[in-house]
Amino acid sequence: MKIKSKILVIAGSDSSGGAGIQADIKTITTLGSYAMTAITAITSQNTTGVNSIIPIHSKEISNQIEFTAKDIKPDGVKIGMLHSKSIINSVVKSLKKIRAKKIILDPVMVAKGGRKLINNQAIKILKYNFLSYADLITPNIPEAEVLTNSKIESIKDVILAGNKLLKLGAKNVLIKGGHLKSKNIQDVLISKDELVIFRNKKINTKNSHGTGCTLSSAIATYFACGKTLKKSCEMGIKYVNHSIRTQPNLGKGNGPINHLNSIQIKKIFR
Ligand SMILES: Nc1ncnc2c1ncn2[C@@H]1O[C@H](COP(=O)(O)OP(=O)(O)OP(=O)(O)O)[C@@H](O)[C@H]1O
Ligand SMILES: [Mg+2]
Repeated sequence: MKIKSKILVIAGSDSSGGAGIQADIKTITTLGSYAMTAITAITSQNTTGVNSIIPIHSKEISNQIEFTAKDIKPDGVKIGMLHSKSIINSVVKSLKKIRAKKIILDPVMVAKGGRKLINNQAIKILKYNFLSYADLITPNIPEAEVLTNSKIESIKDVILAGNKLLKLGAKNVLIKGGHLKSKNIQDVLISKDELVIFRNKKINTKNSHGTGCTLSSAIATYFACGKTLKKSCEMGIKYVNHSIRTQPNLGKGNGPINHLNSIQIKKIFR
């Protein structure tokens, strides 16, 4: 099979394989593209929780980005958790140096249980220096709340928060609806001239580990392959939905989804 695009992923490693870099590589590969990585942290975790986190030094993250891209130029970039001010700054610097394009930023900062994963200084830098640099940001509800200093309890609140993020400089915003209490899941794409609500039936499962990482990687892949952002979001959401539906039921806790599900989607891909 011919490689359709080359994606650079900047994110942390999840030893359990369901989220992080591992989920990103599986997603990009399944969708027919080539994955490269710059690892920002190494975690030991399983489906029941995180055991330890070892951050990688910002200089070494930059080395991975710059040395890799010097040889194989990425067509798109997916960025996951960047946990400190110095890491965010050096990642931006490196991305500018390699003239990165088609950047999808998943501003990971709140864990499933609501705990903040990055400090306030890093959140500030993310908000004021980084949002405007990405082509699309994909916060979940708690992350959109932190970035906009607002409470989100309804779809109206989601749209208000999305517009706030545009005012802060974001080019395009996809606020993911996995955390909103409702029968259907609504993911909302907001840009200057467009508002699209993607609606899906909420799947009743305990296994949704890595849905956010998987979605942003799928969107980055479709986008790098030449789809519009709207189409990339639509197809990415479909891919995650299929992956949740066919989840393999592994582990005792919040188990992984099935990244190998894309047979139907591949037929219409490109
Ligand atoms: N129970 C579910 N049924 C259907 N779709 C879901 C479900 N949970 C999440 N999704 C979808 O998964 C995608 C990721 O959304 P979510 O809000 O879970 O992101 P996240 O909180 O960043 O995930 P993560 O915990 O992996 O960081 C969205 O497209 C969302 O609609
Ligand atoms: Mg997330």
